[in-house]
Amino acid sequence: MPLSQLNAQQMQGHEVFQAKCAQCHDDRDSDALHGPSMLGVFKQQYLPSGAPANDDRLRVTILQGHGMMPGVPMTMQNLDDLLAYLHTL
Ligand code: HEC
Repeated sequence: MPLSQLNAQQMQGHEVFQAKCAQCHDDRDSDALHGPSMLGVFKQQYLPSGAPANDDRLRVTILQGHGMMPGVPMTMQNLDDLLAYLHTL
């Protein structure tokens, strides 16, 4: 979805992504950076690790990290906004 079509919460989530994820993940193209691209992350059934691609799993992955990815602490509000944004990709 083009950035211009995002609602307020999704735009907040975009800012969270820029601040906390973009150094390691692309969101709007499919190239892998340090970690896999987030493009279409919720459009697929599984994450690259084989875990289910759902909100609960993403929350745990973000807060606790996964493999080579460090945990990324943030407020529940930021996490909700970030998930709303990831659903638009
Ligand atoms: C310091 C770099 C770094 C940051 C910051 C980072 N990640 Fe990651 N991420 C990685 C790496 C590396 C992997 C691959 C981990 C592995 O499989 O060992 C990964 C994997 C993932 C996965 C796939 C997990 C799976 O089960 O396959 C998701 C989803 C993810 N990251 C989301 C995020 C989000 C959202 C953020 C921002 C809150 C973020 N990451 C921040 C490096 C990072």
